[in-house]
Amino acid sequence: KLFVAASCALAMAAGTVQAKDWKEVRIAFDVPYAPFEYKDENGELTGFEVELAEAMCEQMKADCEFVIQAWDGMIPGLLARKFDAIMSSMSITPERAERVLFSEPYYNTPGGWFGRTDFNTDVTDMEAMKGKTVGVQRGTTMDTYVTEEMADVVTIKRYTTADDMVLDLEGQRLDVVFVDYPVGEQTILSKEGFKEVGEPVKLGEGVGVAMRQRDKDLAGKVNAALKKLKNDGTYDTIMQKYFSY
Ligand code: ARG
Repeated sequence: KLFVAASCALAMAAGTVQAKDWKEVRIAFDVPYAPFEYKDENGELTGFEVELAEAMCEQMKADCEFVIQAWDGMIPGLLARKFDAIMSSMSITPERAERVLFSEPYYNTPGGWFGRTDFNTDVTDMEAMKGKTVGVQRGTTMDTYVTEEMADVVTIKRYTTADDMVLDLEGQRLDVVFVDYPVGEQTILSKEGFKEVGEPVKLGEGVGVAMRQRDKDLAGKVNAALKKLKNDGTYDTIMQKYFSY
């Protein structure tokens, strides 16, 4: 107990001495997750959130470092200080808000259902869905939804990357994919032979930048920057570039 108290005092002292000015901010992305974050033909990191992050950092006069992090290690990586913020289409949910501090939402994405054109089952009809195989990215709001609503009925396949999931849909190893709507629209509907197979489902309260709970000063800067970008039209310009609606 004494030791804990001592190390806390030390940490607090260190914290005061090195009060962060946030001139350097490390931001994590899970790639590929087009149109949010992906690499272009030249291998350059790009996408809606990457450009938004660039504009945000410019606004905060911060030197930002972009880190690639697999989705399933996002919150652990943030808490372990591998980076300072997550911008990976992370939906704001009460469960996550217990562990991280969210900025104001900067986007909103429902979960979308996608399948091959010959798939003619109503995804809300549990009787008809019996035995079907549904793919989700592990640890997403879509994973939580199917786990809670459909686990007794369908076979759930959980993927580390959204890409592998789309490949399995193409390879007929999955009947349906449940993924952030714009991702399905751009990586599945853009190909021949696929369609939307159900009504999009609202999950979470928008998408926000996730930070550590104690970094309230960083969150303040992020929110101020986002507000400025929304007011001066930068946000709309970036959004129109990546989203068709
Ligand atoms: N919006 C969903 C969620 O918050 C999925 C996000 C997955 N993002 C990613 N970059 N792979 O759970």
